Amino acid sequence: MFVRRPGRHATAPPVLTGSHIDSQPFGGAYDGAYGVLAGFEVLEALDDAGVETERPVELAIWTNEEGSRFQPTTMGSAVFVGELGLPEAMAAIDAQGRVLRDELEALVAAVPDAIHRDLAFPMHAFLEAHIEQGPILEAEGKSIGLVRAIQGLRWFTLVVRGRAGHAGTTPPSARQDALVGAVNAIDALNQLAAAEGDRVRLTVGRLEVHPNSPNTIPGEVLFTVDLRHPGEDALEKLGGLIGETVRKAAAPCDVEVHETLRSPPTLLDDSLRGLVRSITEGLGLSYLEMDSGATHDAKNLALHTPTGMVFVPCRDGVSHVQEEYASVEWMLAGTRVLAGAVTELAA
Ligand code: GLV
Ligand code: MN
Ligand code: MN
Repeated sequence: MFVRRPGRHATAPPVLTGSHIDSQPFGGAYDGAYGVLAGFEVLEALDDAGVETERPVELAIWTNEEGSRFQPTTMGSAVFVGELGLPEAMAAIDAQGRVLRDELEALVAAVPDAIHRDLAFPMHAFLEAHIEQGPILEAEGKSIGLVRAIQGLRWFTLVVRGRAGHAGTTPPSARQDALVGAVNAIDALNQLAAAEGDRVRLTVGRLEVHPNSPNTIPGEVLFTVDLRHPGEDALEKLGGLIGETVRKAAAPCDVEVHETLRSPPTLLDDSLRGLVRSITEGLGLSYLEMDSGATHDAKNLALHTPTGMVFVPCRDGVSHVQEEYASVEWMLAGTRVLAGAVTELAA
């Protein structure tokens, strides 16, 4: 969704800001929503101050950034820049069997006045404000994070197939318990990650057990792996070991491996970061140049236009949980930086 504030030159490529408003199943109120509200505040501040910019300024709200309901993550921005096919994204199905295409069509029908926009329309720059989702800024007592890079990410879905059977009558020698196989596999994956050092992030966040009954041996288990690292070589190596590690640990069960997302480490734009730095310094705010552990739509936009990110601290570094919190003071500082940078880019 794009909200446009006209500039003097209607046809000039606009400056975009924004983020996402979807969340995690028990997620907080700041991840994504902060960047969208900060963007609205920039549009309102420009109105309030009667500023006329050369370029239009647009607020973007990217669809399905989280990927918790429909996979993969950062879907809308991936489709926008051409990294993911539109038909493939539209066919995504949630756990209730609902199809993304139907859900989106219902949303579009609710805003009949909305004008259809082209994918990958030209823009001048994209600047996303976001909470850090980690502990560094708060611990260092800095107001603003200037993001250099977003670490790489690979997603896998694994299916472990054993043999379902009666819990009371099947002797150990005749069992092929898919859940035992999956648990052994998850343990082996965590050992693999631990052996590579603390830059690796490996998470099994979803487990589906069939038939999920107390007195039937699980016949099939599906689980997901979210693997992250700042370096492409480590991602390549560790991702390549996942299938083999799971097969070995889950034997004698059969294992199917599907890679559902591969997103390389992404460098953001140096000169845009320089501009944001000078705005931050001009406002007398403290800052840190840092990398992002979380993934963001900005990594997709970086394939399309000069892209930057402005981080603000969040309490105790917690995110994707309801305890997520950023103070008004922190959010206001980030919004002032965003407003300054967007105004300069659109001037
Ligand atoms: C975004 O929500 C991520 O998973 O980093
Ligand atoms: Mn986010
Ligand atoms: Mn998130």
